[in-house]
Amino acid sequence: MDLKQLHAIVEGGPHGSFVAHLFDAVIGVAILIAIADAIVMTDPEWAGAYGGWSQLIELIAVGVFTVEYCLRVCVAVYDHRARYRHSLWGRLKYMASPMAIVDLAAILPIFVALFLPLSTDEVLLLRCVRLFKLLRYFSAFDTLAIVIRNERAPLMAAMTLMGILLMMIATIAHILEKNAQPETFGSVPRALWWGIVTLTTVGYGDVVPVTPLGRLFGGLAVVLGMGMFALPAGILATGFAEEMRRRNFTASWNMVARVPLFERLPAFQIAEIVDLLEPLTVERGETIIHEGDTPDGMYFLVDGQVRVLLASAPIRLDPGTFFGEMGLIEQAPRSATVIAQRFCQLLWLQRAHFDALMAQHEDLKSTIEAVVRDRRARQRPPGGGA
Ligand code: CMP
Repeated sequence: MDLKQLHAIVEGGPHGSFVAHLFDAVIGVAILIAIADAIVMTDPEWAGAYGGWSQLIELIAVGVFTVEYCLRVCVAVYDHRARYRHSLWGRLKYMASPMAIVDLAAILPIFVALFLPLSTDEVLLLRCVRLFKLLRYFSAFDTLAIVIRNERAPLMAAMTLMGILLMMIATIAHILEKNAQPETFGSVPRALWWGIVTLTTVGYGDVVPVTPLGRLFGGLAVVLGMGMFALPAGILATGFAEEMRRRNFTASWNMVARVPLFERLPAFQIAEIVDLLEPLTVERGETIIHEGDTPDGMYFLVDGQVRVLLASAPIRLDPGTFFGEMGLIEQAPRSATVIAQRFCQLLWLQRAHFDALMAQHEDLKSTIEAVVRDRRARQRPPGGGA
């Protein structure tokens, strides 16, 4: 097995082969067991009873994680992003990436303990870093990282504003309350605790202003806090929505580009059509079109298989084909029932968009009309007249 094949296993991810999934499963289980062990062993009773087993688990986990780390560093040069391509610098660059640092931290407790005397708390903290290894299993974290990156400027602005507000509030509270409560408001750093608890609207209630002016100001701070501290959440939510929209667009683009009818269209026209088409899925056995219904749109079959129930014999349609166009072109009721024979991925083009598209693209219209003529001819029983 060469390094490239090894890369497909180690970095296969959700689209990898069976062996890649097995590799991920082994590492995933090792992470969970190692973390559960670290957590359970903080209980002195358990540590006393099962300390020996815990050491064995730790040894096996570090062994598994060490092999995993070495494999990941070795195959990093085959990463689809060209950034790790150089055999030495590429691997060093990979070793400096956040996930590689987490992988290294996961095996550190034992290796560091060989040279440095670590306290149990330090070992526990290092072992808990392994939790971050789980991030690799959720692609949504990639999205979160991208959103934070994209929105870093407004996030920084919101954070700075929050910092300024916090300092102002702590300073004013210190001025108003220092005489009444020197213990808690005697200095700005002391008043910061009240400031942060108030601005975040957590309100533990352990420190509260007692002077009338201080209370009035406290109420104002809570209202300000509600608005200000909601800002980053809003920025992130909008960023998420934007990123998801972008991803959906790319996915739809790929689906549209795979439909033979649109294959020859230039990119800008595909982009226009992507906006008109709605991706949808149907389960096996579901009826997509009922014979005799009024047509409200047509479908493109991207993946799966459908069956058109004709009087003569049912016809199977495969990915790349379309259906539901006859009713639209002929302005007549549905000529046949169409059923999903397997789970299908479809693109739905509603009637109004269909009419607009046909008006704009004569070539598309004539291609569809030719298909309609051919299908209509095949609907007639053998030997039947016009
Ligand atoms: P429509 O009449 O709107 O609804 C039923 C659909 O079945 C029809 O459009 C066609 O897309 C499809 N269909 C009908 N006859 C055939 C055929 N002979 N071959 C392939 N598809 C057909």
